[in-house]
Amino acid sequence: MAGYFISFEGGEGCGKSTQARMLAEALEARGISTLLTREPGGTAGAEAIRELLLDPQGTGWGLRAEALLFAAARSDHVAQLIAPAIGEGKWVICDRFLDSSRAYQGGEGGLPDDDILQLHRIGSSGFKPDLTLLIDVSPEIAELRVSMRDGDERDRIGGRDAAFHARVAARFDEIAADEPGRVVRINGDASAEEVHHIVLAAVAERLGLAT
Ligand code: TYD
Repeated sequence: MAGYFISFEGGEGCGKSTQARMLAEALEARGISTLLTREPGGTAGAEAIRELLLDPQGTGWGLRAEALLFAAARSDHVAQLIAPAIGEGKWVICDRFLDSSRAYQGGEGGLPDDDILQLHRIGSSGFKPDLTLLIDVSPEIAELRVSMRDGDERDRIGGRDAAFHARVAARFDEIAADEPGRVVRINGDASAEEVHHIVLAAVAERLGLAT
């Protein structure tokens, strides 16, 4: 039987990486074979593209080149790692996926959503997650978590201004409203343990996981 594909999405400092790891551990503890991965990255080729994209000292990419690089990294990641793992029956958990491109490279001042979806059709045959967990946190909590984690060392995209991150959050809201069958919003303001329980309940309800 094929596995499932679950993505975690949200802005900087929302805690999604912690939640992705906690979910992977909880699934493994239930005897489910799980693969935890992230974007941009996950394969050698996609990790090389990650370096190009995020290095704070690196080249400044234009919006279109940036969107193409994310789509290229995703194409390699899906073809080499995600699709084969699902085919083997694994549950794949990915820290960021297509919706990050739609939110960060799309939206106001960015590329039209259709263009980003078109790049994804070319790169990855339009492959989408079975379930996307969008972790929402208030901007104050997010800022606090990011400064505790990164100090002043922000990457090339994470380091953009508050107005940019507010637009990203607004795009995530729209995506969740447009695709309620795939995207579940999770309030991430509580402790990691409490948020994890909400995540597990969503996975149980949407994908039939026994809790
Ligand atoms: P990362 O260090 O993984 O940050 P985070 O912990 O916030 O996930 O860096 C990924 C950065 O790349 C983050 O700022 C979001 C951005 N990004 C895009 O702009 N588009 C994309 O398609 C993806 C996957 C990430």
